[in-house]
Amino acid sequence: MIDFSQYLMLFIVSTILAGFCVLAYDKIIVGKVPYKLLQEETIQEILSCLQLEPKQTIVDLGCGDGRVLIEAVRLQPKLKCIGVEKAIFPYLLARYKTKNYKNIKIYRKDVRQYDITKSDIVFAYLLPSLLNDLAPNFRQSISNDNQLVTVQYKPNDFDPSLECKLKNKSEFADRWYLYHN
Ligand SMILES: C[S@@+](CC[C@H](N)C(=O)[O-])C[C@H]1O[C@@H](n2cnc3c(N)ncnc32)[C@H](O)[C@@H]1O
Repeated sequence: MIDFSQYLMLFIVSTILAGFCVLAYDKIIVGKVPYKLLQEETIQEILSCLQLEPKQTIVDLGCGDGRVLIEAVRLQPKLKCIGVEKAIFPYLLARYKTKNYKNIKIYRKDVRQYDITKSDIVFAYLLPSLLNDLAPNFRQSISNDNQLVTVQYKPNDFDPSLECKLKNKSEFADRWYLYHN
C-alpha cells in the first residue's frame, strides 16, 4: 500500500520530471531555430524548379524529419541525399522515416561543422543568423558551381539569381531563393 506521503513524493518527482522534459524539449529539440517544417506541396514546388540529375548530391541543412530529401528522391530516384540535423528528436524521426531509402543518409551534426562544398545542391531553411554564420561556406560552394537554395531568408549581402514567391505558401514561408554562378 502507498500512503499519502509516498503519493505526495511521487507527485513532486513527476512534476519536476515534467518540467525538466519541457525545458529539455525547448533546448534540445527546438534549439534556436524554430522546428517549422515545409509542406509536401511546397517542397515539390521548389524542387521541381531545380534540375535534379541522377548522381547529383543534395544536402538539406537542418533536415528536420527528412521530408525534403524524401521528396527529392521521389522526383529523382538516383539522387544522393544527405540530411544534417542537430536536434535529437527530428534526427531520430528522419532516420526512421528514411530507413528504406538507400540513397538518403542522415547525420546528427551541427550544420556549421558539415562540409557542403561537395554537394551539388545545398538546401537551407534556417534563420538568418545561422545563414549568416554559414555565408563563407555558401560562397565557396557557389564558386564551386553548386546551387544554393534558401527558404524565406537570405544570408546578408547575397544576391540571389532567382527569387520566387510560393504558390503553396504558409504562415512561415512564402518565398525561396536560388543562388548559383
Ligand atoms: C525550419 S526547420 C526546416 C526543416 C526541413 N529542412 C524543412 O524544410 O521542412 C530547421 C531545422 O534545422 C535544425 N537546426 C537548427 N539549427 C541547426 C544546426 N546548427 N545544425 C543542425 N540542424 C539545425 C532544427 O532542429 C530544425 O529541424
